[in-house]
Amino acid sequence: MTWVEDLHRRADEQLPDYVAEYFATAAGHGQCRREGTAAWEALRLRPSVLRDTSRVSTATTVLGTPVSFPVLVAPMAQQVAARPEGEVLTGRAVAGAGTVLGVSTNTGVTFADVAATGAPWWYQVYVMQDRSLTRLLVERAAAAGACALVLTVDTTALAPALPGVEPTEWPDTYRRARVVNLTEAERAAAGPHALRSAEDLTPDAIGWLRELTGLPVAVKGVLTARDARRCVDAGADAVIVSTHGGRRLGTSITSARALPEVVAEVGGEVEVHVDSGVREGSHVVAALAMGARAVHVGRPVMWGLAADGQAGVAAVLERLRADLVTTLRQAGVPDVAQLRPADVAHPEPAHPTGYPFAPSHP
Ligand SMILES: Cc1cc2nc3c(=O)[nH]c(=O)nc-3n(C[C@H](O)[C@H](O)[C@H](O)COP(=O)(O)O)c2cc1C
Repeated sequence: MTWVEDLHRRADEQLPDYVAEYFATAAGHGQCRREGTAAWEALRLRPSVLRDTSRVSTATTVLGTPVSFPVLVAPMAQQVAARPEGEVLTGRAVAGAGTVLGVSTNTGVTFADVAATGAPWWYQVYVMQDRSLTRLLVERAAAAGACALVLTVDTTALAPALPGVEPTEWPDTYRRARVVNLTEAERAAAGPHALRSAEDLTPDAIGWLRELTGLPVAVKGVLTARDARRCVDAGADAVIVSTHGGRRLGTSITSARALPEVVAEVGGEVEVHVDSGVREGSHVVAALAMGARAVHVGRPVMWGLAADGQAGVAAVLERLRADLVTTLRQAGVPDVAQLRPADVAHPEPAHPTGYPFAPSHP
């Protein structure tokens, strides 16, 4: 059992089944979630020798924000179901670790409480069917101190929810996503449909968000060079290669597989970040070597929060940081900025088509 599997088990012991299942759930038969971690695990590092690694540096910047190591916390809804204080605890741990907190549109915590944690934070945006509500939210996030916006673009058509797992069906004792940063009156006036994600989202949303707030915009959920190009041409400051942790499309390619083509297309122009399935320091090193500026981690943080609160999140981040440092030493690379694509060996194709996972219908 890996340390994350053990943490997952301990978290699930604390949670009602429907919350545990919502955190872990994935689209399809879970192929993309499973293969997401397997694809990082299948990469091999090509260690260097005769390099001075008596000091290792992991410090860098992400969209202008200094971080002590390039592992950020992904935005996740429903943290208040892991612990009632939700992002207040996560944010304090993130501030202590010197990294960045992603804050979901569906957070159960007010922007003022997020800001009071002291963590630099990026506000994740679902553009709603009524764009005036999105406008209110992003302007409030910017005024409260968000350093960047993360525009999630991969959830216009999410996998159908498992019965009983969708938070809107949870009992009221577990605070549901209520978009707490809108007032009761704003939510009531808007009606239920206005809060849903727009299904007609196009790249113009990128420039619109930038104009509203002046904040850098990272577009999350990009898996192809073609889409990365469209985002950058529309003014994106970063793209985040992501399968939403395998929650969007069961048969999607993995982030590890998509990353090289996105870096090749736009890596020289904007920051490329990556998430989904990252669990170990070696996965982080491989992602950075392949050209990612930073990785984002989701479920392990949620499970740390559920199992042990703020200390649990702090332990997850410290484990990843220490593992990153150890792996850099073992790989003979003294600074994350020195990692190069040649430091990674990709798996031998298992099939003449070049697919690492042999197709079942060749
Ligand atoms: C419980 C849960 C809730 C999430 N909520 C959001 C969300 O509100 N907005 C968003 O952009 N991504 C959301 N995500 C996706 C994460 O930001 C991230 O892409 C994913 O968790 C990374 O994969 P990992 O969990 O394998 O590390 C959520 C993920 C989980 C597990």
